[in-house]
Amino acid sequence: MSTLTPNQLRQKYLDFFAQKVSSRHAIVPSSSLVPENDPTTLFTGSGMQPMMPYLLGAAHPKGACLVDSQKCFRSQDIEEVGDNRHTTFFEMLGNWSLGDYFKKEQLKWFFQFLTEEIHLDPKRIYVTVFRGLSDLNIPRDEEAAQIWVKLFAEKGIDAPIVDFPEKNGLQNGRIFYYDEKKNWWSRVGAPQNMPEGEPGGPDSEVFFDFGAELRLHEESIFKDEPCHVNCDCGRFVEIGNNVFMTYVRTAAGFEVLKQKNIDFGGGFERILAATSDQADVFETALFWPIISDLEKSSGKKYEKNMHSMQVIADHIRAATFLIVDGVLPSNKGQGYVLRRLLRRAALKSHLLGVDFVTFIPELTAVVLDMYDGIHNILKNDQQGQVFTVVEDEVKRFQKTLAAGLKIVEHSQNVDGKIAFDLYQTYGFPLELTTEIVQQKGIEIDIETFHKEFQKHKDLSRSASAGVFKGGLADHSVKTTKYHTATHLLHAALRQILGTHVQQKGSNITGERMRFDFTHHAALTDEEKTKVEHQINDWIAAKLPVTMQKLKKEDALNSGAIAFFIEKYPDEVTVYTIGKDAQKDWVSKEFCGGPHVQNTGEIGPIKITKEQSASAGIRRIYVELA
Ligand code: ALA
Repeated sequence: MSTLTPNQLRQKYLDFFAQKVSSRHAIVPSSSLVPENDPTTLFTGSGMQPMMPYLLGAAHPKGACLVDSQKCFRSQDIEEVGDNRHTTFFEMLGNWSLGDYFKKEQLKWFFQFLTEEIHLDPKRIYVTVFRGLSDLNIPRDEEAAQIWVKLFAEKGIDAPIVDFPEKNGLQNGRIFYYDEKKNWWSRVGAPQNMPEGEPGGPDSEVFFDFGAELRLHEESIFKDEPCHVNCDCGRFVEIGNNVFMTYVRTAAGFEVLKQKNIDFGGGFERILAATSDQADVFETALFWPIISDLEKSSGKKYEKNMHSMQVIADHIRAATFLIVDGVLPSNKGQGYVLRRLLRRAALKSHLLGVDFVTFIPELTAVVLDMYDGIHNILKNDQQGQVFTVVEDEVKRFQKTLAAGLKIVEHSQNVDGKIAFDLYQTYGFPLELTTEIVQQKGIEIDIETFHKEFQKHKDLSRSASAGVFKGGLADHSVKTTKYHTATHLLHAALRQILGTHVQQKGSNITGERMRFDFTHHAALTDEEKTKVEHQINDWIAAKLPVTMQKLKKEDALNSGAIAFFIEKYPDEVTVYTIGKDAQKDWVSKEFCGGPHVQNTGEIGPIKITKEQSASAGIRRIYVELA
C-alpha cells in the first residue's frame, strides 16, 4: 500500500501510459462536463463520450494512443450517493487505442499499473469477463479470461475461472463470467439495446477487495445473500473497466468493426481509495477536507452522520465543477440538476444544524483549492463566479425553505399528497416533512407519498428516454445545421457588437440552439435585427464551409478564433466559412466539426430570445425558421 496524494496518482497514471508502455500515449486534456453539440445527453458521463468521433474512425490530431482523466457527472447516481463508493461527479482515468493495440496489451498494462506502479496487492484484485450471448452469436470472451490466468500466474496466484457467480457466489474463483448486463459496454448498454451503427463490445472489469468484514456488518442487507464481485454489498469495488470495442450493430446483427478500439475507464476516486486501503472514498484526501470542515461547523461526527455528510460533500464538489464548466442553476436541463444538488446539500446542512447560507459557498473554496492546477479549475474561475452563483442559489433556497416550513407547520393534516407536493415544489424530502410533522404528533401516509413519487419518476424517465431517442435520430442533420449557425452567430455578434464578444458556451437540442457570450448590456431591438439579418444574408449567400488541419501557431496567425488555447493539441482543425478560405471569409474558428458544407443548407433562422445568463454574459436562443 502506498500513500499517494490525488495529484500524484493522476500524474502516475498519465505518465505510465505516456512514458512506460511500448505504445507511447499522448496526454489529452479533459473535455467539458457539458457536451458540446451533443443533444443526446445532458452531461459527459464517461470518458468515451467526447471520444466518439475518433472511436468511429476520425483521425485524432494527437494520434492513435491517448491517455486522459475525464471529468464525468452521472445524475442518475444522485439517489445512490450515500454509500462508500458512489459519487455524482468523478474523474475517469482513460487510455485509448484507436485501432492500435488491443486486449493483450491493455490487460497487461493496466494490471502492471495497479500492481507495480501503485503497488496494489494482486491477491486483492478480482476480474470479470463476458460470458457470451448465443442468441446473438457473440462468443464468450475466453481470450480475456486466459490472458488474466496468465497475468495472475506471473504473480504466483492461481486464478480459477468461475461461471454463474451471481447464482452461486465466489466459489473460490478469481476470474468470473457474467452476462451482457454486466460485461458489455455501449452507450446504450447491452447489445440488444444498440441501434444500427452503434459500436460496442465485451468488457472486462477489475475489482478491489476491501475485505469481508464490510459485508458482515450487522446492518448489511446483503448478509444472507451469496457474495460475489457484482453483488453490491460494498466489499468488492469496481475500479476499472477495459472495454474491447469490437462490434458494430448492423441490420443483420453484429459485425466486427474495421477499427477495433480500447476504451479503458478507471474510477480515479476509487483507485485512490484502494491505494490507501480506505473502503470509503469519502475518507480519502479528495473528500476529507470537506467532511472535516463539516464536522467542525456542525459539531457532529462523520461516523454518526455518514449519509448526510457524504451527500453534502459529493454535491458541493459536483456543483463546483459544473459551475466552472458554465452551468447555472435553473429549472431545466443541466441547470435543474445543479439546482437540485445545491438545494439537497443545503437541506442536509440545515438538518445537521449548519447555517448553510454562509457555509456552503465557503465549501466551494475548499474544493477549488483542492484542485489547484488541475483541469484549469481555478483559472476558469478567476472572477469568483462559483462562490457568487452558489451563494445566490442557497439564499434563494433559504426563502423557499422558510415558506415550505410554514406550510407544514400550519397544516393540520399532512397527507401523502401534500408531502409529495412539498417534495416536488420545495425540494422537501420526506424525511424532513416526517420529522416536522412527527413533532406535531401526526403520521404521514407514506404509501400515498410513494405512489405519487413513482408517478413522477415514471414521467421524468419517459421524458429523458425521449431526449436520448430524439437526439440520436436527428443528430446528423439538425444538429449540424445549428452547429454551423453558432459560428455564424458568433461572427455576426463580433461584427455588430465588437470583438470583445467571446463565446462562453453553446448547447444544441433538436429544437433550438443556445449561445452564451461576453457582453455588458442587453441587446437593443435594432442590434438583434441587425444580427439576425446578417446571419440570414450569409445563409442566403450559400457560402462554402471548409475544413483545414493546421499547426496551432499557423491557425492563430490565420485569424482563427480559439478559446481555451491550452486545451488544443499542436495540430488543430479550423473551420472557415466564406467564399475564399484565405482572403474572403466571414468566420474562422478552431472546431472539431461537424458542419454543413454550405451555409445555404441551414435555411433561414430567427433569434427567439435574448437574455442575461450571468454577470457580463448574455444568452441568445436561435431556431431554424
Ligand atoms: N466506457 C467505459 C465505462 O465508462 C470504460 O465504464
